[in-house]
Amino acid sequence: MTKIFAHRGSKGTHPENTLAAFRHSIELGVDGIELDVHLSKDQELVVIHDETLERTTNGSGFVYEHTLAELKELNASSWFSLYDDVQQIPTLEEVLTLCNHLGFTGIVNIEVKTDQIDYPMIEERLVSLLQQEKTFIPMYSSFNLLTLDRLHKLDPIIKKAWIMEGTDSTIDFANYFQAIDSIHPNFEWVVTAQEELSGFTKSIRPWTVNQESEMWMCFEKKFSGFHTDYPEKALALKQLYVQ
Ligand code: G3P
Ligand code: MG
Repeated sequence: MTKIFAHRGSKGTHPENTLAAFRHSIELGVDGIELDVHLSKDQELVVIHDETLERTTNGSGFVYEHTLAELKELNASSWFSLYDDVQQIPTLEEVLTLCNHLGFTGIVNIEVKTDQIDYPMIEERLVSLLQQEKTFIPMYSSFNLLTLDRLHKLDPIIKKAWIMEGTDSTIDFANYFQAIDSIHPNFEWVVTAQEELSGFTKSIRPWTVNQESEMWMCFEKKFSGFHTDYPEKALALKQLYVQ
């Protein structure tokens, strides 16, 4: 059955990529959570979507210009009007600890944000951190094929997905690219690419699927999963679909 992934946590109802958002989505009963990782100035894996701090924190400048201690001074929820509590930028380790603490047995989709900035050795840091005992199933995803290839060489076991905007030729490439077992395409492209996708044998988990009609289509197409900002809505619809 199609798996529901909480995009950046429950981005629609909570400040994205915060512990509050991940806790909420896990407590809802999602099949997976999706998060984005960058490296701080002192090489710590931190969970935030943008390369820069302005949109989702009260800080400014690039993430890589700040140490973890400096990033921890910031409020990552002040911009989100529906939420009052202060939330820090979490480290990846803190999110994984929360998942273990909650006994989460779903998938943690770690998006490696190397499409704009090259973070040297980020792949080694990830693979090293993921050695730990865990209740959840990790997965890597990235727009960056080199990152996926490096991760695959370091750890061929953990599943990897290529995030793609989609063009006709990318499907052929995705079919034979050994490092990946799945694609995470832009949903808008998926709608127009039914023919190209019909012969595709790897798993498909589009983003960002927020409308009920779009979610329904993902169930009907038997996609492996989809990413949504509104996992609560998606879970309710899934209940209806299976009845
Ligand atoms: O993994 C799907 C999605 O998260 C990719 O886009 O920009 O939300 O990280 P973005
Ligand atoms: Mg992402």
